[in-house]
Amino acid sequence: MVLVPASAATIEEAGRLIRGGALVAFPTETVYGLGGDATSDTSVAAIFATKGRPSFNPLIVHVPDLAAAENIGALSHDARVLASVFWPGPLTLVVKRKPGCRIAELATAGLETIALRVPDHAVAQAMLRAAGCPVAAPSANRSGHVSPTLAQHVEDDLGSRVALILDGGATVHGLESTVVDASGPKLILLRPGAVTADQIATTLGVAIASAPAASGAPMSPGQLASHYAPNARLRLNATAANEGEALLAFGPAAPSSGFIINLSPSGKLDEAAANLFAALRAFDAAGSSDVAVMPIPETGLGVAINDRLRRAAAPRAA
Ligand code: TXA
Ligand code: MG
Repeated sequence: MVLVPASAATIEEAGRLIRGGALVAFPTETVYGLGGDATSDTSVAAIFATKGRPSFNPLIVHVPDLAAAENIGALSHDARVLASVFWPGPLTLVVKRKPGCRIAELATAGLETIALRVPDHAVAQAMLRAAGCPVAAPSANRSGHVSPTLAQHVEDDLGSRVALILDGGATVHGLESTVVDASGPKLILLRPGAVTADQIATTLGVAIASAPAASGAPMSPGQLASHYAPNARLRLNATAANEGEALLAFGPAAPSSGFIINLSPSGKLDEAAANLFAALRAFDAAGSSDVAVMPIPETGLGVAINDRLRRAAAPRAA
């Protein structure tokens, strides 16, 4: 069996496998990651091959704490402040690679910058310490598919193509980490997530600019318009489902007939975020070709949810 419950023994085994060059899927507080030794060219190449990921899209390198991050990246003052407030947690900081750092060039797609994250999840933390090396880990889904929020999603997408899947239950946030480019003089929000722009602005005392909408050459390849795509076509900001459409609902005022998945009947954004990707997979599993999506408020975590919904609804790249 590739999918095993996370325990002291299976986490140790995961660390051994990663050190030996194999790939392990593991839970974090955001989504499941597909981890490999970030210092090994062959491990990193295997991550791209396993996901079917275009190799220009750089990976996030996961470490257990700020001290380990400082060995790899040159953190600016602002980056260090954000790290001290939000790590461990759902924030990825893009900083300059430290000269001589041992991270494989392929992991950073040849860029001079590196994306660093310290996850806030007991299994991820224990696995990183067991591996003893920085772990490159994209979300553990086939490239272009929605991110996995359950170990079973990983099994469905990647199955026996990974050495081990550590099952740590459903992820708490359900959306990928907030990505902030802190490598230049001005911070830029590359991907919204559970750490919001408002929280960052409050922490630093200055507003943070969002990267321009996905068009042309993306600053962060995760900004590719159709990056998070289910099979079903999504129609956003719908008040009700039309003939032949399923409904992705939000809040107490949702209609109650037809095939409906309500992200949060009580209208809670954190609950909706945690349920979003499983819901998109459920529509695909049910064979829904068209899904009407009720509006989600564009506040707090709603910004990140709407970002993923817009990508999921965007026209597909060929
Ligand atoms: O929550 C998460 O971040 C999850 C868990 C597993 O940690 N990981 C994740 O990884 O979502 P991935 O590879 O699916 O997304 C990484 C994002 C991509 O949008 C990528 O383009 C961006 O981070 N990124 C990575 N390195 C970068 C860099 N040097 N400069 C700009 N963007 C970068
Ligand atoms: Mg991803």
